[in-house]
Amino acid sequence: MNDHRDGKIIFVTGKTRSGKTTEIIKRTKSATRLIVWDPKPEFYKLPGFIRVNDTNGLINLLTSGKKHLRIAYVPKVITREQFDFWAGCAYKWGRSRGPCTVIAEETADITSPGKATHWWGQLIRKGLGYGIDIYATTQRPSESDSTALGNASVILCFSLVKTTDRKCMADNLGCQATDIPRKKHEFIEMNMDDGVMKRHNPVLPGLSGQLDKPAPDSLNIQSQTSKTRGNRNVR
Ligand SMILES: Nc1ncnc2c1ncn2[C@@H]1O[C@H](COP(=O)(O)OP(=O)(O)OP(=O)(O)O)[C@@H](O)[C@H]1O
Ligand SMILES: [Mg+2]
Repeated sequence: MNDHRDGKIIFVTGKTRSGKTTEIIKRTKSATRLIVWDPKPEFYKLPGFIRVNDTNGLINLLTSGKKHLRIAYVPKVITREQFDFWAGCAYKWGRSRGPCTVIAEETADITSPGKATHWWGQLIRKGLGYGIDIYATTQRPSESDSTALGNASVILCFSLVKTTDRKCMADNLGCQATDIPRKKHEFIEMNMDDGVMKRHNPVLPGLSGQLDKPAPDSLNIQSQTSKTRGNRNVR
């Protein structure tokens, strides 16, 4: 018997600027153990986040013994290998140190509709049993990893433009392509466990531009090797 609840996969899709990241930030505000694949990068600007740029830095931080961490992993290069390494770290952190929240931003860049990469697959298929909540976002659901979509506990579907993407989401939500939102910031939320669908239209005054502010001084973690090489500011 587990002493924690099962985790959830929250699949979040919508065209660029539709509101995905803003909604995820809102939902994960109180998460004290959080690790983000942050290629854009955006999360590192938010209060309480530690920015990590390389693999050694990430390992050092995760093995530092600190229980409560909000980590934005900003890869220097956006490759499948980097993504899979990050996914492996997130999975092992949740499995060995207790439930955590994992956010993978823009999976279309580093996954495909075929078989998921090794650790991303492990995270999606086994992570929920360790109480891990996984947010996976994509602008292009028809071109992203189908493992996350196929196993989603909740789908948040913002506005989509391409017919293939609208059809893909309609098929997964069990609705018509015409039901998929077109309006900015509007989204459908479908609980895949009970089939209950809600439509949200949250135009929040004052929210616009929240993610576009310049970054405050953020804490940067890099491995000893990169520090000594002097590339401290390399993203
Ligand atoms: N409900 C909302 N009401 C008003 N403004 C919003 C709302 N949601 C998001 N915004 C604003 O819209 C812009 C785009 O939002 P956001 O970055 O969350 O979109 P996104 O879907 O993650 O885009 P991308 O795919 O390019 O990362 C931001 O400036 C954000 O502050
Ligand atoms: Mg975003």
